[in-house]
Amino acid sequence: KGYRLVWQAETGSTNEDAMQAAREGAETPCWYVARQQQAGRGRHGRQWLSPAGNLYASLLLKNPCSMVEAPQLGFVTGIALYDALKTLTGAQVPDLALKWPNDVLFNGQKLVGLLLESQCMGDQVHIVIGCGINVSHRPDNPQYPVAMLHDLNPDLSLSDVFSAFSLSFDHVLSVWQETRGLSAIERFHPIRELWLERAGGIGKSASVNLPNGKINGSFIGIDALGRLELDTGNGIKLIDAGDLFFPKA
Ligand code: BTN
Repeated sequence: KGYRLVWQAETGSTNEDAMQAAREGAETPCWYVARQQQAGRGRHGRQWLSPAGNLYASLLLKNPCSMVEAPQLGFVTGIALYDALKTLTGAQVPDLALKWPNDVLFNGQKLVGLLLESQCMGDQVHIVIGCGINVSHRPDNPQYPVAMLHDLNPDLSLSDVFSAFSLSFDHVLSVWQETRGLSAIERFHPIRELWLERAGGIGKSASVNLPNGKINGSFIGIDALGRLELDTGNGIKLIDAGDLFFPKA
């Protein structure tokens, strides 16, 4: 099968490179990797600080699934990232953990951010999975604490990290692709199990920032559709999108 790889010293945004390549009919699957980004994008229209020293990688896939199933790829990628980082560092839950929807944390600090984008052209769906992995830099962020891989293993190079992640991603993706043809909910079932085994903070107090305010409760897990389940003490709230925080114990 084989993946193409475009590795650049510097670019605006590897997600933008992949979206642009999709419009130009590029061959897929293809990884776009850069050592530095000038216009890295984060979730909810935020900026992703992208100094040299960290890994910026986006994968362009053509028709991997229906649009309804696309968010499942975020969970697939999270599982693959967790497994690769566990192999590279020896860390595991609860120190290394997934946080809903798509982050990887080390000791409660953000190590990886993931941004999924999609584009429909006629009957074709292009999905871009973009990952920013802090390897040897910890960009200051006023919103949350940040970690880097060199705190866990200072010998890791960017290519060690990319090799382990791309291999692990290919493995988890093939497992998920074996369920093609089943309904979206049926396909999500095994992915949900794998994700929950790697998730941090289950049963802990948490808060979620939503556009219309903040809600507090205890983090129970994710439902059959990947929505966050928060026990507010006044019923269980299901949340489609938002930022989850665990207060420092
Ligand atoms: C987040 O807000 O947590 C998601 C951050 C995703 C950043 C990555 S870096 C590689 C790819 N290119 C981008 O412009 N963004 C993603």
